[in-house]
Amino acid sequence: MPDAIAAPPKGTRPEGARSEDDASRQVREMFTQIAPRYDLLNHLLSMQLDRVWRARVARRLRPTLMRPAARVLDLCCGTGDLAFSLSRSAPARIIGADFSHAMLVRARAKSQSLPARSSAIPASPMPFFEADALRLPFADASFDLITTAFGFRNLANYEAGLREVHRLLKPGGTLAILEFTEPPAGLLGDLYRWYFRNVLPRIGSLLSGDRAAYSYLPASVSRFFRPAELASLITAVGYRSVEYRVWTVGTVALHTAIKSL
Ligand SMILES: C[S@@+](CC[C@H](N)C(=O)[O-])C[C@H]1O[C@@H](n2cnc3c(N)ncnc32)[C@H](O)[C@@H]1O
Repeated sequence: MPDAIAAPPKGTRPEGARSEDDASRQVREMFTQIAPRYDLLNHLLSMQLDRVWRARVARRLRPTLMRPAARVLDLCCGTGDLAFSLSRSAPARIIGADFSHAMLVRARAKSQSLPARSSAIPASPMPFFEADALRLPFADASFDLITTAFGFRNLANYEAGLREVHRLLKPGGTLAILEFTEPPAGLLGDLYRWYFRNVLPRIGSLLSGDRAAYSYLPASVSRFFRPAELASLITAVGYRSVEYRVWTVGTVALHTAIKSL
């Protein structure tokens, strides 16, 4: 019998989740649980590459970030690291949103001690909002740029997430999604897969005390779209100029797209 063709994922489904609401609730509880150790584990398990990836995203988005009037939303912002990278020496007005209160408490605390962005832009705490990415409390066409790093994969409904971002972007505004992806076959890819599926969950579980969260990570990445599939979905939702680039032997991908004028 031929292998069954896997249906494209509609949204994340942590083990045992019975519905979208249930999946969302489980994801929120999981991130709330690991919030105290989130930053430490992020930097440790990625061997500091997470900082490099966020800095690269900021570099790519620099033309928008350098406009003082640009309004930027970092979605699924967690403890704020992408939002802080975007704000480094850039005058755009950046805010973050996430549905885990515990993650935002850390983002707010970190934002209190941000250095001045430049001699012309004094330090000021960044605003953070507690909100679900599928139902955001902002008016249509509010933002020039909406980013999300390692958050999109966790949405309970990917198409609904892309539509909500589309609603919030101004015409001509940019969407940028940074996500983990499965590396291609080959020695490096296989080595990474072994690390991601065997070593990372053990260290994550040991240091966070949450075994499920760090088993969920590789499981959710392997269920998630390959970069070309995500690009097709973004196009199907109505964005134009959809592009992606993969980094670090194909383990992360940055998708960018524009809302039509
Ligand atoms: C892996 S963390 C990424 C955090 C941060 N962007 C970073 O780069 O470190 C994923 C974040 O997405 C948030 N998240 C997941 N689903 C969400 C949703 N539906 N609405 C808002 N936040 C969500 C989680 O609470 C968590 O803080």
